[in-house]
Amino acid sequence: MQTMNAVKMAHHILLDKLATAKCVVDATAGNGNDTLFLARNTCDQAVVWAFDIQEAALVKTERLLLANSLSGKVRLILDSHANIGKYIDDSIDVAMFNLGYLPGYGHEITTQPYFTLIALQQILNRLSVGGLVSLVAYPGHSTGYDEHIELQKVFCEMPQNVYTVGCWSMVNHVKCPPVLYVIEKVRSEAREGSASR
Ligand SMILES: C[S@@+](CC[C@H](N)C(=O)[O-])C[C@H]1O[C@@H](n2cnc3c(N)ncnc32)[C@H](O)[C@@H]1O
Repeated sequence: MQTMNAVKMAHHILLDKLATAKCVVDATAGNGNDTLFLARNTCDQAVVWAFDIQEAALVKTERLLLANSLSGKVRLILDSHANIGKYIDDSIDVAMFNLGYLPGYGHEITTQPYFTLIALQQILNRLSVGGLVSLVAYPGHSTGYDEHIELQKVFCEMPQNVYTVGCWSMVNHVKCPPVLYVIEKVRSEAREGSASR
């Protein structure tokens, strides 16, 4: 049994922030494990928004939440994460993306770089100062590879006086292991006159 992997590292990094988070997003609900983690570790007043484009994913997520008596604080949304802005007005404290396809289902329904970037921008537009966004990318399959490259480009260009972006992966694993990125919003906006990088 492996102690470290990209998703466990994401949970580990987000945990402290969740204690005070009020508005939390799971951008890819899938089997519901991350939604359950977010619901379990937030206070009773918090709202967890969980998005997926596959009904089967939301059915699984709802079942898991019900089994853990945690469905009350979760809003399950059968829609693309690219439409997050249609549902959430509040500022967002924590968001998770676990990219790729639903394990055990067809690989053809997978996250797409174009929509992932739209969703990320919508979340960044609403992210509170001190807020965190985690993204686990899977460069081991072809769409995941393209998605990872596009995301990496965007992350490297983010102004460091507003965001800090970290990256974690297994350095000895072959076949393109998953890569975790964590974005923290450190200031509200770029200050005029200051260097953007
Ligand atoms: C790797 S799974 C997520 C795993 C999940 N977080 C868990 O804990 O089990 C990726 C999910 O993203 C979903 N997905 C793909 N494109 C999406 C989109 N545009 N909006 C929302 N969800 C999407 C897929 O249907 C799939 O269920």
